[in-house]
Amino acid sequence: MSTSVIILAAGKGTRMRSNLPKVLQPLAGRPLLRHVIETAKKLNAKNIITIYGHGGDKVQQAFEQENVQWVEQAEQLGTGHAVKVTLPVLPSDGVSLILSGDVPCITQETLEKLLAVSRETGIGLVTLTLNDAAGYGRIVRENNKIQAIVEHKDANDAQRQIKEINTGIYCVSNAKLHQWLPKLSNKNAQGEYYLTDIVAMAIADGLEVASVEPERAFEVEGVNDRVQLAALEREFQSYQAKKLMQQGVHLIDPARFDLRGQLKVGQDVRIDINVVIEGDCEFGDNVEIGAGCIIKNTTIASGSKVQPYSIFDNAIVGEDAQIGPFSRLRPGAKLANEVHIGNFVEVKNSSIGLGSKANHFTYLGDAEVGAGSNIGAGTITCNYDGANKFKTIIGDSAFIGSNSSLVAPVSIGNGATVGAGSVITRDVAENSLAFERSKQVAKENYQRPQKLKK
Ligand code: UD1
Ligand code: CA
Repeated sequence: MSTSVIILAAGKGTRMRSNLPKVLQPLAGRPLLRHVIETAKKLNAKNIITIYGHGGDKVQQAFEQENVQWVEQAEQLGTGHAVKVTLPVLPSDGVSLILSGDVPCITQETLEKLLAVSRETGIGLVTLTLNDAAGYGRIVRENNKIQAIVEHKDANDAQRQIKEINTGIYCVSNAKLHQWLPKLSNKNAQGEYYLTDIVAMAIADGLEVASVEPERAFEVEGVNDRVQLAALEREFQSYQAKKLMQQGVHLIDPARFDLRGQLKVGQDVRIDINVVIEGDCEFGDNVEIGAGCIIKNTTIASGSKVQPYSIFDNAIVGEDAQIGPFSRLRPGAKLANEVHIGNFVEVKNSSIGLGSKANHFTYLGDAEVGAGSNIGAGTITCNYDGANKFKTIIGDSAFIGSNSSLVAPVSIGNGATVGAGSVITRDVAENSLAFERSKQVAKENYQRPQKLKK
């Protein structure tokens, strides 16, 4: 039986007080709606139908690459009306999972459980028991069987005591949606078409309404304002941190760790506090990351140690490298094994060969450095003439003296030496010494200027 996913995302999100539509607000670095779409994709949904309203253009643009069907709900007349507008594109058979674009953390596992229990009955809900259920739709049961959902505003005092709530996540047979939704009415406290009324319709049709509870409460938490967004961010982060620790990662403090993407790890990876990991990253065995590092779309191979406050963006680091503190690896930085990159060294679009070192204050841009070379403190590859970029090639076992400028295009041969303070504009041959500096001037018994008398 095929599964469709319907995502409600037409609400205004007024309480965010933002120009950005609510479902585009980021949680763990990705828009709320992306979390839901990614989970839907994991379920191999046949079609993903997203109901949009406010800021629809921006929302659709953000998901252009995705195979998502968009249905407009021009006026927000209620959750039941929202699902009703999908009927023209909704298959007549199979089932639909109904999700919310602002409930981003629902998991594949919970939805699979929901699908399993709903297949037998034709309708199922994700419910949750809360100490304070105020504001939510309540699950009314008789002899333990679900009879109806009553919205808080429509509930009587006795119903308001009910602690089991509707999370707004459902699984319903498409045939039933086609049958029930046109019959919804808006005669209720809010004058809205309530999706929740389909539960009473199911009971009237003699169906049983199944339910499951999520393993963790944050899976069904919605986001209405920035306070809730920040709270959910922390819960999601602590869930991710726990998963990493269960895989053997030593997080010095899981409360001060942020993963905004995917991290694959080997054994005995250690991560100090306040590290932010973005996009797709991979750390090999025994990798150590110092405090305050920001690492995006980067692979760091086994045994490499990163000292605090280093920044990586689309870099590849070999085994047993030593990086930082305060190093910056920009896109296209490719370090072989045992490379050392030290403080205030920036590497962009450059490959650095086995065991080469650039330990202090250096810019390596559009460079190819061989193995076993030493790049002295303050070396700059002058790769840009104001209009074009050029390459610097440095061979194996070269030695670049401190404070040298290598004006690209230029190449330094294997075993060549550049004297400190040189501006190198011509190629340097293998095993030769090149330096470029004016002769040192010496003035004996020199008097420094004295402070003028007023
Ligand atoms: C809904 C449920 C309530 C449940 C609660 C869980 C109904 C009538 N009530 O209430 O039982 O406890 O969610 O959070 O369904 N939306 C649209 N179009 C509309 C109205 C809403 O797309 O016309 C979207 C919103 O953007 C949101 C979702 O539907 O993503 C839920 O809407 P919301 O107004 O938050 O529903 P609640 O009143 O909180
Ligand atoms: Ca809500």
